[in-house]
Amino acid sequence: MMIKRIGVLTSGGDCPGLNAVLRGVVRAAANRGWEVIGFHDGFEGLLPEPNYEVLDIKRCAGIMQLGGTILGTTNRGHFIAKVGEGNRIELDPEVIAKAKQTVDRLGISALIAIGGDGSLTTALQLQEAGIPMIGVPKTIDNDLEATAMTFGFDSAVAFVSDALDRLHTTASSHKRVMVIEVMGRHAGWIALYGGLAGGADIILIPEIPFSYEKVAECVRQRGEEGCLSTMVVVAEGAHPKDRGEIYRKAGPGEYKLGGIGEQVAAEISARTEKETRCCVLGHLQRGGAPTTLDRILGTRFGVHAVDLIADSRFGEMVSYQNYQVLGVPISHAVHKTKRVPADGQMVAACRAVGISFGD
Ligand code: F6P
Repeated sequence: MMIKRIGVLTSGGDCPGLNAVLRGVVRAAANRGWEVIGFHDGFEGLLPEPNYEVLDIKRCAGIMQLGGTILGTTNRGHFIAKVGEGNRIELDPEVIAKAKQTVDRLGISALIAIGGDGSLTTALQLQEAGIPMIGVPKTIDNDLEATAMTFGFDSAVAFVSDALDRLHTTASSHKRVMVIEVMGRHAGWIALYGGLAGGADIILIPEIPFSYEKVAECVRQRGEEGCLSTMVVVAEGAHPKDRGEIYRKAGPGEYKLGGIGEQVAAEISARTEKETRCCVLGHLQRGGAPTTLDRILGTRFGVHAVDLIADSRFGEMVSYQNYQVLGVPISHAVHKTKRVPADGQMVAACRAVGISFGD
């Protein structure tokens, strides 16, 4: 296949490291003499009038260290192919046809979609419709199957750990319990890694349903041992054994995970009479410069996406396994959410250093 021009887009929630991937794609493509077209605002940029720009080495200079994405992104619009685990929404055939027309008209040989499980499910449908697609997995949540890690996760964890350091000093000065709610959707990776790195005393994750009484018991015991403060990290998808996840209204008809932090704080305060505060880290976890690890992983993902195109391995996505970047079928990544194994080494290490999971 004679390749002259390829396309790339960023889709779904933004994430530190996206610009490192774009720069990696552009530089690796330039080495092969290919031109890169960057579509704006995710898959929406493919619809008429197509919204795109030529990405060259000059345009990508100095972007690796920037958070967000220079192409813009969206997690709504005409290309939503998934609203929950294992669930697939068929895209409107007319929307697919328009996207294909754009790709054909611009002479694009392959399209790289950088996105999470929803965007990769969209990419799979476009591939099935005849657009040669390559996926690059992206999410701060680290909840994608078929890759040991996604870029963005390390940056989010670094932010959580830094926030805990800051909250620790105020919590111990006031002898308070501090509850920190973090992102992660239905997986507890950010809470687990950020909590361990930030010296949390209690970590609550969706994979280990907790009991309020056990959490309160741990707080009381720490008080009896003379500890000045207690730091509780709660994943937004965590829930007590007898109740489900908590959602908050994010817009008209739209609900997002969130609110468990306030509930945990209220229960701790009522059960222990300790002064308790809740801090929701929210989108701060998605912003800012990527860590060195995410810059490197992002660059390697971008470079390998171009290699996969050169080898005509369409329908595959890049994947990080045993320190190597490989190609795997996109379908392997989107069939289920990668959750924290409750009996795995990370949870065991946390327990070994005295962290309670409230179970
Ligand atoms: O998937 C990434 C993520 O940041 C989740 O951790 C969080 O639940 C969600 O996206 C927030 O989405 P939005 O940006 O639409 O509020």
